[in-house]
Amino acid sequence: MKHLLATENLDPDLATAVLDTADGLKRTLLGREVRKLPTLRGRTVVTMFYENSTRTRVSFEIAGKWMSADVVNVSAGGSSVGKGESLRDTALTLSAAGADCVIVRHPASGAAQRLAGWLEGTGTSVVNAGDGMHEHPTQALLDAATLRDRLGGIKDRRIGIVGDVLHSRVARSNIHLLSALGAEVVLIAPPTLLPAGVGALPVTVSHDLDAELPALDAVMMLRVQAERLAGAAGPGGKFAGFFPSAREYSIAYGLNEARLRLLPEHAVVLHPGPMLRGMEIASAVADAPSAAITDQVRNGVHVRMAVLYHLLAGEEDAK
Ligand code: CP
Repeated sequence: MKHLLATENLDPDLATAVLDTADGLKRTLLGREVRKLPTLRGRTVVTMFYENSTRTRVSFEIAGKWMSADVVNVSAGGSSVGKGESLRDTALTLSAAGADCVIVRHPASGAAQRLAGWLEGTGTSVVNAGDGMHEHPTQALLDAATLRDRLGGIKDRRIGIVGDVLHSRVARSNIHLLSALGAEVVLIAPPTLLPAGVGALPVTVSHDLDAELPALDAVMMLRVQAERLAGAAGPGGKFAGFFPSAREYSIAYGLNEARLRLLPEHAVVLHPGPMLRGMEIASAVADAPSAAITDQVRNGVHVRMAVLYHLLAGEEDAK
């Protein structure tokens, strides 16, 4: 693997190999006091985040450190980006400084792909840590790892993705990965929060959460992305200017305790975080045993270790 930019067109065998590597790393590290493997000693990983992040940035840093890579964190605020340096020049600078891998989060859809193009021939790999409304491939991989743990597999499982699909790179990456791994994906959202061209995606669509819940093996709740609702910060508040209102959204699409009881007993509740408790998910649901939200975060470290391993340890070592 040279770069990880998207799950669309990611070979399902390669995705499964990454998930298997993550499983192996998790088992290797289980119960160890010192979680350190020598695998990436001498390799340099740079995280470059132009948008806020807790889970993705921290888990990539921990993943790199647990693999003995040197990890350098660059934030837009504390770097020469603040002086007007372009993304291209920043990337070329980091590559010239010795980065073997650049992990980038950026508000523009397609930014990671552009970066990979600019770094062609330098030997520096690029990982997309979330680009605008496009993709967040390592989130989908960690969600798949969590579903494999909780459900024993993904093939033929029915997974509901609920809420603000329109703005969600998490949804897009999960749609492609889960369907490639054999799941049936159903999008459950108001018409105004579904993307144009949804008919071309490998999904079914529903607007009725209560009707869908009894037939789901897992339900993935999405955060309402107020920051991407252009013009939404009108005089009526941060959710003004789009339909449904925050209250209507929560009533129709929020996962509350009554709805949790509609799910089959074995079903899993996922949320990529950060959660808006009381909006898309009730606090009691987020903390219920069927919720796998902290498992997702734990698996995120092992999955990101596996991604770095497949990118930087070489194909032979990664088998
Ligand atoms: N799920 C996710 O991407 O979280 P962060 O924004 O905290 O990285």
